[in-house]
Amino acid sequence: MRLGTLLLAVASLTSAVNAYWMGDIAHRGYAPFAYSGYPVFRNVKDYGAKGDGVTDDTIAINAAITAGNPCNQGCTSTTTTPAVVYFPAGTYLISGSIKPAYFTQLIGDASSPPTLKATANFAGFGLIDANPYYTQYLNWKAVNVFFRQIRNFVIDTTNIPPANAATGIHWPSSQATSLQNIVFNMPTASNVVHVGLFMEEGSGGFVTDLTFNGGATGASMGNQQFTMRNLKFNNCKTAIYHLWNWGWTYSGLSINNCGVGIDITAGSGKVETGSIIVFDSSFTNTPVAISTSWTTASSPDTAGTLVLENIALTNVPIAVKGPQGTYLSGSTGSTTITAWGNGHKYTPSGPVEFAGALTPNPRPVSLLASNGRYYTRSKPQYETLSASQFISARASGAKGDAATDDTAALQNAINTAVAQGKVLYLDYGLYRVTSTIRIPPGAKIVGESYATIMSAGGFFNDINNPKPVLQVGSSSGQAGTVELSDFIVSTQNAQAGAVLIEWNLASPASNPSGMWDVHTRIGGFVGSQQQVGQCLKTPGNPTVRQECIVAFMAMHITKGASGLYMENVWLWTADHDIDDAANTQITLYSGRGLYIESTSGTFWLYGTGSEHHVLYQYQLSSTQNIFMGMIQTETPYYQPTPNALVPFPSVSSLNDPNFSTSCSGVSGNCAAAWGLRVLNSKNILVYGAGLYSFFSDYSTACSTFAAGQTCQSRIASVEGTGCSNVNIYGLNTIGAQSMLTRDGVSVAWYADNVNNFPSSVGVYKSG
Ligand SMILES: *[C@@H]1O[C@H](CO)[C@@H](O)[C@H](O)[C@H]1NC(C)=O
Repeated sequence: MRLGTLLLAVASLTSAVNAYWMGDIAHRGYAPFAYSGYPVFRNVKDYGAKGDGVTDDTIAINAAITAGNPCNQGCTSTTTTPAVVYFPAGTYLISGSIKPAYFTQLIGDASSPPTLKATANFAGFGLIDANPYYTQYLNWKAVNVFFRQIRNFVIDTTNIPPANAATGIHWPSSQATSLQNIVFNMPTASNVVHVGLFMEEGSGGFVTDLTFNGGATGASMGNQQFTMRNLKFNNCKTAIYHLWNWGWTYSGLSINNCGVGIDITAGSGKVETGSIIVFDSSFTNTPVAISTSWTTASSPDTAGTLVLENIALTNVPIAVKGPQGTYLSGSTGSTTITAWGNGHKYTPSGPVEFAGALTPNPRPVSLLASNGRYYTRSKPQYETLSASQFISARASGAKGDAATDDTAALQNAINTAVAQGKVLYLDYGLYRVTSTIRIPPGAKIVGESYATIMSAGGFFNDINNPKPVLQVGSSSGQAGTVELSDFIVSTQNAQAGAVLIEWNLASPASNPSGMWDVHTRIGGFVGSQQQVGQCLKTPGNPTVRQECIVAFMAMHITKGASGLYMENVWLWTADHDIDDAANTQITLYSGRGLYIESTSGTFWLYGTGSEHHVLYQYQLSSTQNIFMGMIQTETPYYQPTPNALVPFPSVSSLNDPNFSTSCSGVSGNCAAAWGLRVLNSKNILVYGAGLYSFFSDYSTACSTFAAGQTCQSRIASVEGTGCSNVNIYGLNTIGAQSMLTRDGVSVAWYADNVNNFPSSVGVYKSG
């Protein structure tokens, strides 16, 4: 054997041993509403991509994406054609944009992330253009771009001349989307104009573990709201530029050797950045950490709201710089900003306009890592496991065809995986279940694309006798740890008693359970029978159709549960039909969003949303030690026709709001869904909240400042003498007259806190 051949043989043996399980595993995903034989999984090499750094792989990669004709140019949105486009390790040379379809994930080898390397004459808006401008408009309406991921890549623009426009990823996107584990390599020349991540619109969203090297701007972004975690910027002229936003939460920024860290100066006359919250972050060798256009006289009143907490500076002479000079000095040595901000504060009454130091939140030790930062953990990708350490749900007999009763087969598959210490792989499919699926301690479940567990039948349809669809831990307080990622829980047809996820497990704070990219999608998709055909909106008509009562509660964290880390979790009741070409609006009734009544608490909610539930989106009762950032909510579009008292009877044992005392003497639409309701709870630390009410009986006329924000009277409530340290940074509300009430009395009025579209309170502290 010649030496070269031997080396090749060794290399291929090594790669066989180390290959990421996702490439090796048998691919059994089944999309029941696509044509038979539709490929869910696509390995780009099977479509001719070489990944050798020499061959132009653009056409081959896009062929892998378009195989089976998923939702591309001209398609509104879909849930019927899921796709996982997998890239083995290698360097893929591309001369034009990679354009993922709707409901598609681009996933690289997690143990050896592949490089997408642009040719010198690359043409396109983004090496990955996730929402192309085929016309003057984005291909998909940015606020309806859901259920997409890109992870494990190196995006390399260094072949493109620095002065030529180049964009790494174009990502106008919304809820239930994520970017994870991506490095952007750009030139560092002084004339560089490259941008790593660009997004101009949307209602996000979550990204984590991104590194930006070089470039003019690491990330240039406009979006309603986002949660971004663990982003590193090295040698960028500007690390982050905000085109606009309503609210934004950054945790774990590491900005090194940049000209400016975060630039929030956009807008001439009108400040375009609504608010940003930055905590547990560091800036190093950067002349200006944050550049703002906020002044005591800037407009709108609260635009440019900024809150900083636990920020380490090393050789950063100016921490915050504005039109009126240096607002906060840094240091040519090292210093830490304990807490500082500008905007409006209520501590607990106000508004007080301020720019200066703040008292930092008291951080419960159970929520912290050893470095004093809030604990974080990225979605596990199991890169040390081999394919043999996964058990396939479909190989275990579950069909995933949205019709067969998969209850027993799915339960057996879960139990077998746990007994054998393996990961359950939920191949793509819609698994219809007619009684509770139990997830025992030790379970690890990973979905392919957005595999869906869907409840059906009479067991789940008693509004007076709710039943969990997924029950994590058999009884409240059972000890153990589980890891769940990348799947959806849904219901089919009328399911008035369905609690989609019941969380009973008590996990230690030092080794919490986790949910990553696990969502509820209640209605609005083929297979749900909760679509335009059944539940078309009926503006002006409050009559409830029984077949449109589709859930009792999205997620219930019970009294004995504790120690759960949630990241990028969207508890969505559909407001429109994703599989309808016009995205027509529908009226569905889901009683409650997320209810936490755990007595010992200890929960982390990074990048979560809860939308269109009847009584509340988030309710916390007699609980404690909860980190939430950012949370995003929307009130059902049909309210007040009917209002939140309909159709779910108030259950006092669940501390349901009944709007009797809280609405007495309050004018307007008072019996409306709470965005956030906190009862007798302590150490509830919210880092960013977007609580929105855009509609009244399907009309948006109520949600403007001109109309007086009359969609509903109140939207956030802190109640009970048991409340302490219920603290909110960046409270942004839309459509509500009162932004927050304490024990039924309004604390903050929208008109006192006008921002660029929401009203914003920089800091609320309950005391
Ligand atoms: C309504 O809710 C309040 C707490 O908000 C509670 O004190 C009262 O007992 C409830 N009323 C009924 C009839 O359940």
